[in-house]
Amino acid sequence: MITLKDKNILVTGASSGIGRQIAIMASELGATVTIVGRNMERLGETISLLTGTGHKMYSIDLSVSSDIDQLITESLPYDGVVFNAGIVEYLPVKFLNDNKISSVFVTNFDSNVILSQKLIKKKLLNKKGSLVFVSSISSKLGVPGTAMYAASKAALSSFSKVLASELASQGIRSNSVCPGIIRTAMTEQASDVVSQEELKKAESEYPLGYGEPSDVGGLIMYLLSDMSKWMTGSDLIIDGGFTLK
Ligand SMILES: NC(=O)c1ccc[n+]([C@@H]2O[C@H](COP(=O)([O-])OP(=O)(O)OC[C@H]3O[C@@H](n4cnc5c(N)ncnc54)[C@H](OP(=O)(O)O)[C@@H]3O)[C@@H](O)[C@H]2O)c1
Repeated sequence: MITLKDKNILVTGASSGIGRQIAIMASELGATVTIVGRNMERLGETISLLTGTGHKMYSIDLSVSSDIDQLITESLPYDGVVFNAGIVEYLPVKFLNDNKISSVFVTNFDSNVILSQKLIKKKLLNKKGSLVFVSSISSKLGVPGTAMYAASKAALSSFSKVLASELASQGIRSNSVCPGIIRTAMTEQASDVVSQEELKKAESEYPLGYGEPSDVGGLIMYLLSDMSKWMTGSDLIIDGGFTLK
């Protein structure tokens, strides 16, 4: 019943992981998809996996304002935007420095604010459009070593709520999703700082085990579709039951 037929959807961070899966699923549901990431080769792989025609890709760095301008200049109005690009940095607070503080925030928060503002100002969001911000369960927790990541995602969830209020009169919706651990390149990064034993123990705390990109993808398809037309300002946890306890 969920369809994205005739919808023009932008997905950031679509060169791998969750973003790639979102682009694939959106194309399968009939959308024309524009994908963004930095790595041209992996973006090309994503494009080759999409159903249908007319999809576009942009190899740009969202932390660079002029790169965002290039995307904006060449964009047609979108019916849905998934703000998914993000990075993680594991560092205890005592080891943070100015550079580490800003690098995570610039990618996970600032770039999404700038992109959404430019989309609004240039009237590149269609009426009844849907914005989806990929936050994280980390925004609700206090996992050691995740201070900047968690704070950047909490900021993103709050930003999405305010946007929901500001855009409701135009019929544009804004929601955020907070996934628990999903198997992607990003989670592999955790094995640099956490032992395999600890990773196994962490998974045992997920009643339904770790998630797959398609698990988050399903929720995002719903949020992009008209099935969720009465839903805005929500911050949805999707975590295989991790926060049940
Ligand atoms: N995996 C999890 O357990 C999990 C849990 C909760 C939330 N999330 C969130 O889900 C989102 C996707 O994560 P993932 O697990 O799929 O990670 P991933 O496989 O590492 O994908 C991250 C994506 O973001 C893109 N990206 C990063 N910095 C960028 C920049 N400056 N400009 C343009 N693109 C950029 C990457 O593209 P390039 O490499 O091509 O630049 C890549 O496509 C992230 O926001 C993450 O915080 C993930």
